[in-house]
Amino acid sequence: MYYIGIDLGTSGVKLLMMDETGRVLKTVTEAYPLSFPKSGWAEQDPEDWYEKTKTGLRKLTEDCDRSKIAAISYSGQMHGLVALDADDRVIRPAILWNDGRTVKETEYLNEKIGKEQLAAWTGNIAFAGFTAPKILWVRDNEPENFSRIRKIMLPKDYLSYRMTGSFCTDYSDAAGTLLLDVEKKQWSQEMLKLCGLETEMLPRLCESFEVVGTLKKDLAEALEFPETVRIAAGAADNAAAAVGTGTVGTGGCNLSLGTSGTILIPSAVYHEVPGNALHNFAHADGGWYLMGCMLSAASCWKWWMEQVIEATDNQQEQAGIRELGHNPVYFLPYLMGERCPHNDPAARGAFIGMSADTGRREMAQAVLEGVIYGLRDSLEVARGLGVKPDHTRICGGGAKSGLWKKIAASILNLPVEVPENEEGPAFGAAILAAVGDGAYESVPEAAEKLCRVRETVLPDPALTEAYEKGYQRFRTLYPALKPLFAQMAEENRK
Ligand code: XUL
Repeated sequence: MYYIGIDLGTSGVKLLMMDETGRVLKTVTEAYPLSFPKSGWAEQDPEDWYEKTKTGLRKLTEDCDRSKIAAISYSGQMHGLVALDADDRVIRPAILWNDGRTVKETEYLNEKIGKEQLAAWTGNIAFAGFTAPKILWVRDNEPENFSRIRKIMLPKDYLSYRMTGSFCTDYSDAAGTLLLDVEKKQWSQEMLKLCGLETEMLPRLCESFEVVGTLKKDLAEALEFPETVRIAAGAADNAAAAVGTGTVGTGGCNLSLGTSGTILIPSAVYHEVPGNALHNFAHADGGWYLMGCMLSAASCWKWWMEQVIEATDNQQEQAGIRELGHNPVYFLPYLMGERCPHNDPAARGAFIGMSADTGRREMAQAVLEGVIYGLRDSLEVARGLGVKPDHTRICGGGAKSGLWKKIAASILNLPVEVPENEEGPAFGAAILAAVGDGAYESVPEAAEKLCRVRETVLPDPALTEAYEKGYQRFRTLYPALKPLFAQMAEENRK
């Protein structure tokens, strides 16, 4: 039988088809535009997601026996606000996870309602990218649009709604709305009231591997798919990526080096996170996870290569011209502000420590190191709570770089296990489809059987020692610059 994973990302949708043994038969990517209507805003047209997914599904399955397609599931960019009216029409473009317009609403939630109150209701505090501050923004800035809202959903749930007609979401994605009581796994009535929403406006909550329906008849016909194709709810992209690398249960963690960078640490039990510097979300295996999210990870590298040095080919492997671990240059990777652990939309990127002999190679190396130092900041918060993973898996575009993996192993002081299958979220989504279809009893069982490790990159003791000093210096930089970032943001607002 064939299982399809659809990863609805920020730059495009990636589709993957595998058989029940986890063998990947084909992948297809279809890009769609991302618009920045104002500085710090990020929007997309949900219609593009649906149209490009249909095109992708056709291409993915054009050479196969479509009668063998058994189930589909999703991985979705998190936190996006999709609002539908009474006729199921999209009211305004989706406001995405990396949109920073909600500074005022986030401050209101954290300061006026209070972080402790929010954490008691939801397990989390407000971050600018989360869904609830966006709902408040629409209420206060687009009252006409707000009054027409009948359904609120997350990006992948919109796709699922179009494909099945079922209005559902899963716990891992719902957790990123700040509307879910993550410990109890139910919508927080207090948060709904605060945002002016009724429970009927929100999707039914499901486990990620739960079947929510089958393909709509007309879509099945148009795609020439069997009408019996089952659709499992799917997961937030980070949770799906963790499933795809086999990061379920306890003991390990997963690094994702995509546009955003995350370190996701699963747990079978729910943890309180004093201070809430990390996200406290529900996992796709039925448990929970702690996650540090950096808004710019592989995108820092892209920015450096394309916008700054305008490199025509990938010069990354030459970046390490300085002896690793002894780079005098530091880079703060906060190009879009930062989520974890600083929660500071005003933070910005910075290079520090250049001298007359500094060349672009030290600066390139600093970019790679700065991203991993930033992830280490989140790992340290988890370690401080007694959650101490003993290895990590890795996925995302950045995971293709041997140099970056070597830097990661030594800065984090963790063996970095490279999965055979690097497709992360799309593979995780296909696994959820297989579990939903009953090919495997549970997500942990499927992950154990399907997620094999290709290579382990061990921390190098001398490098780990050198990077420890580097990290201790790095962690002093943001606090020193924080007041300046705030002042600059204030001036830019005027
Ligand atoms: C996680 C987050 C990002 C997006 C990227 O909280 O905002 O990782 O999910 O798609």
